[in-house]
Amino acid sequence: MDINILAIESSCDETSASLIHNGKVLNNIIATQSVHENFGGVVPELASRAHQQNIIPIIDQALKDANIDKTSLNAVAFTQGPGLLGALLVGASFAKSFALALDIPLIGVNHMQAHILAHFIDDPKPEFPFLCLTVSGGHTQIVLVRDYLDMEILGETLDDAVGEAFDKTAKLLGLPYPGGPLIDAYAQKGNPDAFPFPETSTPGFNYSFSGIKTAILYFLRDRIKENPNFIQENMNDICASVQRKLIDMLLGKLKKAAKKYKINQVAISGGVSANSELRNRITEEGIKNRWHTYIPAFEYCTDNAGMIAISAHFKYLAKDFTPLDAFPQPRMKF
Ligand code: KG4
Ligand code: ZN
Repeated sequence: MDINILAIESSCDETSASLIHNGKVLNNIIATQSVHENFGGVVPELASRAHQQNIIPIIDQALKDANIDKTSLNAVAFTQGPGLLGALLVGASFAKSFALALDIPLIGVNHMQAHILAHFIDDPKPEFPFLCLTVSGGHTQIVLVRDYLDMEILGETLDDAVGEAFDKTAKLLGLPYPGGPLIDAYAQKGNPDAFPFPETSTPGFNYSFSGIKTAILYFLRDRIKENPNFIQENMNDICASVQRKLIDMLLGKLKKAAKKYKINQVAISGGVSANSELRNRITEEGIKNRWHTYIPAFEYCTDNAGMIAISAHFKYLAKDFTPLDAFPQPRMKF
């Protein structure tokens, strides 16, 4: 029998819908919310309102584009968490109503697991067990992935996520939100050794990015005192130096984890896996350490419903359904 699933992502500032047919993602329609650009971060209430406006047109477009009628759906999936409560509620409410009206199963998906399972949308696919460095605007985790739905967090950030470190640095530099891609662009023209930044030491495989953020704040304050145009004159070098430090920190712990768990399948995922230096460096480390490395296509790095769809497909096969009275979980664990 065919398996058609509609998947919805609405955890943060992207409203997205995707259709998956027998494990093949047919489309991945994304409406990005530009309304947050001038606020230096996502404004939760504005995100919820934009989801509310976008969700029906996006789902309609996904169904039409896939040429699948709603009566041919076998399940409806949605991001259950983690994420912003108001934003999650929009996707959850739609998914629940649709599942109830069509009398088909509901599948709640963990957004962080979905970032990892995005690796199973296209080839090459990792083999189990593998390590995944999941780096996004809200999370930084090293995950041991034993199977599609069997994952263990080996380490994570104790404070800010690495995406937040990128975005907050960008804000200090006067750049709009989200600043990660802009830092990446300026860094390509800069000297990564121009300015040294300190690294916070953390136990085990955990990370901490709040110290470096404060160090950057004080560094900029002191340099601007000497030269009011310091940022404008050194933008490329500042971005390259900050980015180099952040990527060094990420890879340091990842290498330790791969060694300790004797794993040579290593993946990256989440919004920050779109970063060009991280993509290059993981490839280099792969060659040095004889890892098989897996880097997602750009489309599946930042938030998207394709990754929710592939996760839902595996949950459907495992008959792992979600009751209609399930609530979104802003701090959902796995
Ligand atoms: O996974 P994602 O879309 O949303 C969350 O689940 O948080 O990740 C968004 C994060 C933002 O912090 C954004 O600045 C960062 O990913 N990001 C990047 C790049 N592209 C997106 N950071 C660094 N370099 C990039 N090229
Ligand atoms: Zn995400």
